[in-house]
Amino acid sequence: MELMDLIVKRRSIRKYKETAVEEDKIQKILEAIRLAPSALNRQGWVFYVVRDRERIQRVADAAGIFPWLYRVPVILVGCGTTHECMTNKHNSDTVDVSIAMSFAMLEAQEQGLGTCWMAHFDPDKMRKALDADENENPVVLMPLGYADEHPAARKRKEIAEIARFM
Ligand SMILES: Cc1cc2nc3c(=O)[nH]c(=O)nc-3n(C[C@H](O)[C@H](O)[C@H](O)COP(=O)(O)O)c2cc1C
Repeated sequence: MELMDLIVKRRSIRKYKETAVEEDKIQKILEAIRLAPSALNRQGWVFYVVRDRERIQRVADAAGIFPWLYRVPVILVGCGTTHECMTNKHNSDTVDVSIAMSFAMLEAQEQGLGTCWMAHFDPDKMRKALDADENENPVVLMPLGYADEHPAARKRKEIAEIARFM
């Protein structure tokens, strides 16, 4: 699919089929992540691919308020390990991991899979749920699977409201 088609058709999916996600699709998504840019090309990140049912339960517990998350086939969790403030005062973990996970989101869409960007979780609980290193800073969790819903597009601001031409 053309990139703009992928962007136009993507939705946040909060209801998934139980169908397993094929290994080659997961590998393609990880390759998209691997090739993402990062500040100084540091690639200070780790991505958990959670498929074990018990582990999915622990991750969903750490998110807390999403009953549907317990039933998804895969959850990706993107963690940063750099913990550096860039010159522009933004944290490179947040930016680097977010770019990589956006690449993942679009490659998942290309593979016919649904995703949902999720930031509502307690990072300490998430680290424990993953048995992650203290150094790993969970930035985003992203369920991955075949959509079992077709949400309508949510409204966006017009270009004239958000762009400043000068
Ligand atoms: C930074 C960020 C955090 C988000 N956190 C959550 C979340 O914790 N739970 C959730 O259900 N959706 C979450 N979303 C999804 C947004 O609600 C969704 O992208 C937005 O409503 C637009 O809908 P769309 O993605 O279908 O276009 C998050 C999205 C972003 C970008």
